[in-house]
Amino acid sequence: MARNERWGLNTPPLETHRHWAEEQEVIGPGLQAVMLWSRFTVARASGAVLTDLDGNEVLDLQGAGGVNSIGHADPTLVAAMTEQLATWTAGAFGSQARLDMLNALRDFLPEGLDRVQLYSGGTEAVEAALRLAKSATGKYEVLSFWGGFHGKTLGSLALTAGARRELGPLPGGFFSAPYANCYRCPFKLRHPGCGFACVEHAREVVKQQSTGALSAIVVEPVQGRSGNVVPPPGYLAALAELAAEFDALLIADEMMTGFGRTGAAFAFEHDGITPDIVTVGKGMGAGYPVTGVIAAAATMSSGAFSEPSASSSSFGAFPMACRAVATTVSVIERDGLVERAEQLGKELLEALSPLAEQAPLVGDVRGAGLAIGIELVTDKDSRAPASTDLVRQAFTALLQAGVLVMTGGNTLRLYPPLNIGDDEAHDAADIITRTLTELGR
Ligand SMILES: Cc1ncc(COP(=O)(O)O)c(C=O)c1O
Repeated sequence: MARNERWGLNTPPLETHRHWAEEQEVIGPGLQAVMLWSRFTVARASGAVLTDLDGNEVLDLQGAGGVNSIGHADPTLVAAMTEQLATWTAGAFGSQARLDMLNALRDFLPEGLDRVQLYSGGTEAVEAALRLAKSATGKYEVLSFWGGFHGKTLGSLALTAGARRELGPLPGGFFSAPYANCYRCPFKLRHPGCGFACVEHAREVVKQQSTGALSAIVVEPVQGRSGNVVPPPGYLAALAELAAEFDALLIADEMMTGFGRTGAAFAFEHDGITPDIVTVGKGMGAGYPVTGVIAAAATMSSGAFSEPSASSSSFGAFPMACRAVATTVSVIERDGLVERAEQLGKELLEALSPLAEQAPLVGDVRGAGLAIGIELVTDKDSRAPASTDLVRQAFTALLQAGVLVMTGGNTLRLYPPLNIGDDEAHDAADIITRTLTELGR
């Protein structure tokens, strides 16, 4: 069999779809679009490969939106979690698992960020970061960015400009400004000639709208749900300056980008800055639901946030979560996966970039490490975004051919495991190139 003939829905996925239909009799509506479009039902998973109930194998570049950092069913993680399950699972007391996790993080975290508090969902960590910023500054307003995604609870939703239909009223004190999305610059300018007009605009937003109580600026170093939008170098540094100007804290939401995904341990490192607060999750636990807030001791121990029971949560730092983080970080370090994400990310970007010229539907290809975005348009000159129908067609054609991707608006988003094999990565690039080139014809 030729290499990439192994992948794809080569057998009609009849059992897969029957199973899916049975689930739909009970499960609530509103699952992620890619789940509903694919009706994919997993029989087993290993590394970068998902196998459906009919035996079809596909390359998993959906990766649960960046959660699958070290590959499905990593043997080291399976062994460690199995042992932990039999040892102790419920309670946030001290334990060997917690100490192992803290020691692993102590080595992995950049200098200056030395305290961590754990949670179990992304939005929960973002809410905790907002509480911490209020607590540390004594102020309460927040600036965030168009196209950002930070979660779906009240505070994180107020940060998430553009996804609020039917969800008002939202809390006051939240402002937003355009992100450095150069492919769709609302000022119609080009970097670097623009001199970061978007940051200047953000400065004006705060000046005009704040009551003088800005506690934090919250930003994704690479905007995930908007299509892995990578801002130009210097953007985060400019936001750090802006935050300092208003005596506010800079919160980097690294839920998707942290733990090696972008080819650095944390994406803010690309810009040579250290934020005041970092929110993390996804790839940190490789599938176990664990998230966190990271800050310097001085920040974390100021104000009400540090009082007994103030920053805790029911499942925070439970033993399985701690074991998952300790083991995932040890695998990332043992196997040099941050460096691998950087190197393989460059190769994949190079392989996929020609699509922006040769595929009628592709307007832009971009990425940082192994977070890659392929933006679909109906017209390359006007950059008119592809419709949801067209995105669905592309998604479905890719799945049929053997590559499962994530979507976000009119962008296809790729999140392979950081340790995907070279052959698998290049098979995926070939399949994507072939499928998207054929699709627009
Ligand atoms: C950057 C970022 N922040 C926060 C969240 C919210 O995480 P959760 O869905 O676990 O609440 C996400 C989820 O995709 C995210 O990408």
